Amino acid sequence: MATDARGAAAPLPRFPDGFLWGVSTSAHQIEGAADTRAPSVWDVFTAEPGRIKDGSTAAVACDHVHRYEEDVALLADLGVGAYRFSISWPRVNSPGGLDFYDRLVDALLAAGVRPVPTLFHWDLPADLSWLERDTATRFADHVAAVAARLGDRVTKWITLNEPAEHTLLGHALGTHAPGSRLLFDALPAAHHQLLGHGLAVQALRSTGADDIGIANSHGPTWPASQEPADLEAAAFYDLLLNRLFAEPVLLGAYPEGLGDLMPSPDIEADLKLIGAPLDWYGVNYYAPTLVGAPQGTEIDFGGVRMPAELPFSVREIEGVPTTDFGWPVIPAGLTELLTTFASRYGDRLPPVVITENGCSYPGLDDQDRITYLEGHVRALHDAITAGVDVRGYFVWSLLDNFEWAEGFARRFGLVHVDFTTQRRTPKASYAWYRDLLTRSPME
Ligand code: BGC
Repeated sequence: MATDARGAAAPLPRFPDGFLWGVSTSAHQIEGAADTRAPSVWDVFTAEPGRIKDGSTAAVACDHVHRYEEDVALLADLGVGAYRFSISWPRVNSPGGLDFYDRLVDALLAAGVRPVPTLFHWDLPADLSWLERDTATRFADHVAAVAARLGDRVTKWITLNEPAEHTLLGHALGTHAPGSRLLFDALPAAHHQLLGHGLAVQALRSTGADDIGIANSHGPTWPASQEPADLEAAAFYDLLLNRLFAEPVLLGAYPEGLGDLMPSPDIEADLKLIGAPLDWYGVNYYAPTLVGAPQGTEIDFGGVRMPAELPFSVREIEGVPTTDFGWPVIPAGLTELLTTFASRYGDRLPPVVITENGCSYPGLDDQDRITYLEGHVRALHDAITAGVDVRGYFVWSLLDNFEWAEGFARRFGLVHVDFTTQRRTPKASYAWYRDLLTRSPME
């Protein structure tokens, strides 16, 4: 909690009128009801022994498909203006699949909460692969079907969630579905997702949509020292995490040389689609990364094994608190990221929305989460004061949920879920956020 010179809690700063406060979830992590949808790559991955650390599956998860009314009531009580959720492509492919989202959207609107669906959050139908170009076209067809059904009530759309993580963890390192360990041969998965994004924007625009964004994960990359080898490694990591996914979308170009590595019959035509203007740019922010020259050893980075053969090594940031996931808590990294993006991309950066920010801690009296969130809300305001046009902030996540390869061990929710009884219990951070929203715009 920030304090003034006398140690009293400093009031939270005032945010611009119309600032959108929300919370986020994703389909595979909360929905359950796996028996009423087609399988995704995550179902296949989860079924392989040893893939999920606690041996769990998301077959039931938060049972949200059956309990969505209770979850919408929690959103209404929280007082958020918007709810970011994702639409499961395998569910849409199943009989009656869109009916669920139809009901969810109606329930949200009736509760005064704006629905903000993400059209792809990692749960690809099991028979598809992002290594194939055709998946991008299939994605656009999926998006068109969803928009045809929900577009009369949904106006704000997110195409993809974190193609960087899905490429890195799912295709390069193999710690997420589909579990491919291709290292740099994973680049086609990046290009095809970005192409899917471009085609999705085109499909949405043809329905008249004018409030479209993407949710990209970004964070400042800090060099381990000023030695040339560390600076070079950090610049390379920045290229992979930040520039590779921001620049095609914002500038219609890959960073130097990378376009030549992408599989495409006509890279210029692809980039024209990928770089079509967006109405806003979504940023998922968790922490900065300290990066140095390769050390020749495999290391554990936030639960992910980073192989020794990479041309960089991720180092521990010392002297800062960490979440129970081991992620460093550095709110000022959010200000740094946003001001860096604003100066890097100038008027090519549309208004920004923080589409995810949050942390994993156990317990109901989660003062650590309150400290984390409050620090990041203040850091966000610092970015606005510095001139960055930020229009919204979404906490990850509404509910404790299936945290991918970690299973249910990591709890990111404002609401505790007992995965045996499915009982929901709001945590202290839920009350804190509700209080913040009640006083918003804050004094
Ligand atoms: C993802 C979420 C995930 C969260 C915490 C983001 O990378 O979009 O699905 O649960 O981070 O790891």
